[in-house]
Amino acid sequence: MINIVLFGPPGSGKGTQAQHLIEKYNLKQISTGDLFRFNMKNDTPLGQLAKSYIDKGELVPDQVTIDMLVHEVKKPTDTAGFIFDGFPRTAGQTEALEQIVNEVLGAPISICLSLVVEDEALVQRLLKRGETSGRTDDSNEEIIRNRIKEYYAKTAEVAELYKQQGKYVEVNGVGSIEEISEKLFAEVDKIQK
Ligand code: C5P
Ligand code: MG
Repeated sequence: MINIVLFGPPGSGKGTQAQHLIEKYNLKQISTGDLFRFNMKNDTPLGQLAKSYIDKGELVPDQVTIDMLVHEVKKPTDTAGFIFDGFPRTAGQTEALEQIVNEVLGAPISICLSLVVEDEALVQRLLKRGETSGRTDDSNEEIIRNRIKEYYAKTAEVAELYKQQGKYVEVNGVGSIEEISEKLFAEVDKIQK
């Protein structure tokens, strides 16, 4: 089984690269951001709760996100593993994920692939994406900057935890989509040998 954590700040290209990785390695993508947006679109109680955080660029409380993720991981799938896109975003979520994959899948996290992009490039990318994404959290520079601030305040420490386990690999997230995919594939291929 291959279980990949796709890591990086908002706008670093996690969603785009997840698409390439799922095709290449037959994986199931779980994007907690997409799941929240699906719930927001359908105006579910979970969506309403998530919206109150997402519209400010803040993180949804751990237990809410973790419960949603567990539900998703437990769904039957015939893929060779998972890509976690946008999760974990806190130390608490990292510990929870460790437990979930071991208990539900009987397999560990294989690797944490981290896309590195500097802040001003992120802001420009997200403002551009906001022109077409319809995402309220992409439409306003103040919210975008708050998301990046939340990333450093709460999410950056996730990298430390995977570093300690020797599972953390950084890849330059600036370049063509194909170039970056190739670098990510090379890292996954290394651990499969
Ligand atoms: O992953 P993505 O950038 O699509 O997430 C969009 C928003 O969803 C985040 O800015 C945050 O408000 C919320 N989110 C969260 N916890 C996660 C993933 C997403 O609070 N693990
Ligand atoms: Mg995304």
